[in-house]
Amino acid sequence: MRHQVDFLVIGSGIAGLSFALKVAPYGKVCILTKGDASEGSTKYAQGGIAAVMYDTDSFDKHIADTLVAGDGICDKNVVEMTIREAPERINELVQYGVEFDKSKGGKFDLHREGGHSEFRILHHKDNTGAEIERGLLQAIHNHPNIELKEHQFAIDIITQHHLGQRVTKHTPDIECYGVYALNTQTNEIDTYLAKITLLATGGMGNVYTTTTTPIISTGDGVAMVHRARGVLKDLEFMQFHPTSLYNPAEKPAFLITEAMRGAGAILKDKDGKEFMQKYDKRLSLAPRDIVARAIDNEMKLAGVEHVWLDARGIGKNELINGFPTIYAKCLELGINITKDMIPVRPAAHYQCGGIKVDTNGESSIHHLYAAGECSCTGLHGGNRLASNSLLEAVVYAHNAAQHAISTYKNINTSTHQQVPDWNAEGMVLNEEMVLITQTKKELQEIMSNYVGIVRSDLRLRRAFDRLNLIFRETEDLYNRSVLAEPLAELRNLIACAYLITKQAMARRQNVGLHYSIDLVENNT
Ligand code: FAD
Ligand code: SIN
Repeated sequence: MRHQVDFLVIGSGIAGLSFALKVAPYGKVCILTKGDASEGSTKYAQGGIAAVMYDTDSFDKHIADTLVAGDGICDKNVVEMTIREAPERINELVQYGVEFDKSKGGKFDLHREGGHSEFRILHHKDNTGAEIERGLLQAIHNHPNIELKEHQFAIDIITQHHLGQRVTKHTPDIECYGVYALNTQTNEIDTYLAKITLLATGGMGNVYTTTTTPIISTGDGVAMVHRARGVLKDLEFMQFHPTSLYNPAEKPAFLITEAMRGAGAILKDKDGKEFMQKYDKRLSLAPRDIVARAIDNEMKLAGVEHVWLDARGIGKNELINGFPTIYAKCLELGINITKDMIPVRPAAHYQCGGIKVDTNGESSIHHLYAAGECSCTGLHGGNRLASNSLLEAVVYAHNAAQHAISTYKNINTSTHQQVPDWNAEGMVLNEEMVLITQTKKELQEIMSNYVGIVRSDLRLRRAFDRLNLIFRETEDLYNRSVLAEPLAELRNLIACAYLITKQAMARRQNVGLHYSIDLVENNT
């Protein structure tokens, strides 16, 4: 089936929904999402969204904190623009119906997280993302111009390549006409044509064995742009959150928000002794790259699988009322956080790099925009400051919407008639799921062991060679199989793993989240 809309949005997290609401007054909007509408990282965000809302704080301080966390390679103009725009975007979220906690005086109650010099994180208890997703989805459902279609898996963006033309990295004017998408309930593949396409497909945490990200985070948008020969950036900077709950059987790993450390919780080693003083004077509240590496080192030195987070000093009332989700979750596992320390370990959490976009959210491919975690704006540099990503998503959804609104009327859609439908001739059903599940396990182990928090030249080379083998095997399977979501996701994960590894090999200096034991000397 063929569909034609003005604005096509892939993904229903904070980025996709915010963009859709902004462009909806101007034309027909279709949102495709591969699972249930609310499933994505947004729903799991705990800590909150960073913004300077009052005079006790300043834009300059938030800008400085972001630049320090980014380890000197943020795009300063982007940082300034994003942080100065933040209060306006927060007010819009409130107008859409999102509720943030307020203190008794009626002002927003602000939390603090690692790397922030001030209390500036707006939150809704410890389940901010779920509240944002609820508010935005409600606004979407009330809008007559927006159609939201669940269980639609975008496979590839459509470009001149699908019209039979040769497209390479050097082709100057690659254009996006829409996407092919698999309806995972009927197994039909539809053609979605649009004047403007926005990718808001989220992260790629599932490249690793332990991740806080949900199962949908398989790097689909990044892989699609890679195949379409678009420009990608900074993928070596995978952020590991220092404190996911140690509960090996659970996937995704449950997060223990950094706001808990902001409220006074302290990291301790296997013997219950503080250790962060050995690594950084900001102790448990140092930026994430430093804390995650410190924990990784402590675990390796002691040969243990986790360290402890001691939240007991925060006080029973504040723990139970301020962190109700974490309190209840831990209690379910027999951990009473008012009395017991919490076992924690780092987990892949956030991809700082992605589809390179300009300040309008436009990618290197014409009429293709990207926002949220799948994009690389330059805000995060080598390491994202906590709670700056929900902010980045709303700021760039806004910028992309403004730009798209100003251009979409002049986009000529005559080429759309030449776009062929998906051709599945000669494909056979893959009846061996083990080919997919086993390869995914191998991929995650390669990446966790060789391209994780601490890297080396040898580890990266090993990863690269092994990825090559599973890439070839999986391409072969893909080229003869009837398309199905698990295989398409695996293929995307392999593409992302390859890109992370390749960009890590090319980075010859330790910066931000990229840390190699072979480069330590170069830095000194
Ligand atoms: P997501 O919310 O991940 O949404 C992606 C969407 O794309 C989903 O709807 C998915 O179904 C869809 N999709 C993906 N691929 C396809 C495809 N092929 N076809 C169709 N649809 C597709 N950041 C903060 O700033 N503050 C926090 O407190 C915070 N806490 C976090 C806690 C956790 C546990 C996690 C995992 C992340 C946290 N982050 C936080 C990061 C932040 O939540 C994410 O970066 C942000 O929500 C990403 O939003 P998004 O809209 O880009 O993607
Ligand atoms: C957290 O709550 O610790 C996560 C915040 C973030 O990832 O920005």
